[in-house]
Amino acid sequence: MTSDVYVPKREDKFSFGIWTVGWQGVDVFGGPVRPAMPADRAVRKLAELGAYGVNFHDNDVFDFDDSNAERDQKIAAFRKALDETGLVVTTATTNLFGHPVFKDGAFTANERSVRRFALAKVMRNLDLAADLGAKTYVFWGGREGAESGAAKDIATALERYKEGLNLLSQYVLDQGYDIRFAIEPKPNEPRGDILLPTLGHALAFINELEHPDLVGVNPEIGHEEMAGINYAHGIAQAMWHGKLYHIDLNGQHGPRYDQDLRFGAGNARGAFWVVDTLLAGGYDGPVHFDYKPPRTEDDEGVWVSAAACMRNYLILRAKARAFRADPEVQAALAAARIPELAQPTLAPGETWRDVRDATADIDALAARGMGYEHLDQLALEHLYGVR
Ligand code: GCO
Ligand code: MN
Ligand code: MN
Repeated sequence: MTSDVYVPKREDKFSFGIWTVGWQGVDVFGGPVRPAMPADRAVRKLAELGAYGVNFHDNDVFDFDDSNAERDQKIAAFRKALDETGLVVTTATTNLFGHPVFKDGAFTANERSVRRFALAKVMRNLDLAADLGAKTYVFWGGREGAESGAAKDIATALERYKEGLNLLSQYVLDQGYDIRFAIEPKPNEPRGDILLPTLGHALAFINELEHPDLVGVNPEIGHEEMAGINYAHGIAQAMWHGKLYHIDLNGQHGPRYDQDLRFGAGNARGAFWVVDTLLAGGYDGPVHFDYKPPRTEDDEGVWVSAAACMRNYLILRAKARAFRADPEVQAALAAARIPELAQPTLAPGETWRDVRDATADIDALAARGMGYEHLDQLALEHLYGVR
């Protein structure tokens, strides 16, 4: 196999947040290690690497306190780069976390005027997102949360969160924008505890909204794994609910701070099942990377890591396909009775009466092994490259 099969193509729909490659490396212990990167440069470089689209926060393109003239000029440069490269704006979002005004949250800030300002900031960027053709708008509530118990009345905060999303849904409907919302869960960081900490919390919350059909999820690998949760299982459930509107792929080594490693680094075995699950579920949205090139990297290292996200996805996709096509795997799946799970427990027309007194060969079933170790070893051998 030549390495050429791992070259990204437009139809792979790879996309990146402008803030990923643009991250200057500012963390809690140190300042920037790389110069600021204008959004139009990120667009041009990502296009060269074979990406299909981008996602942006309002303040990835222009600064929080830019004048209207500065804002217009930066948006024009961004738009020109998009036009010249053919890169698509798949997604957009709002920076509701960087400025000190959002220190206690945006939609759930205790102070009402902060909440009203946050909604205005989102609506202004929804206008730009719609104009640039974005179809998904992400809500990552990084500052919606608390560090201490009495600081936030959680039920009331959820009411305000709901009020905010209802208002914004109405805005999108009234403006006739072809945009759906995707909530991105995260358990903690930057807040001590963040509201809607996991995929499950977000899915349940969506059911309480006025326009639940407009709202889905944007789960990030690292965020679920920070909470020790299986991301592949999470996205499988989100697809089952018809709610996987977007994905943030990256890498993470278990429960610790949000590492935002390039996709395929960190939990490599988990990444294999993520790709397998996306293929099985027929996910056809943007394959979006939300990672941070480590502080150790210079500009060249930034592009090496961005290219590696796409390459690792393509490598894992080839491996997942080879795993599924392997006759020995198919035999192992059958031996493990995987296809039998698709058979409903009741036959058509049966009711609980038909199983009320069901019997089974209890001893034989209890003694029977499932063969999962053999099946998983085949998966690992595909992943390790010996099959
Ligand atoms: C994180 C988050 C963010 C959000 C992004 C969208 O790593 O904590 O992923 O990167 O996805 O800012 O608002
Ligand atoms: Mn993250
Ligand atoms: Mn993310």
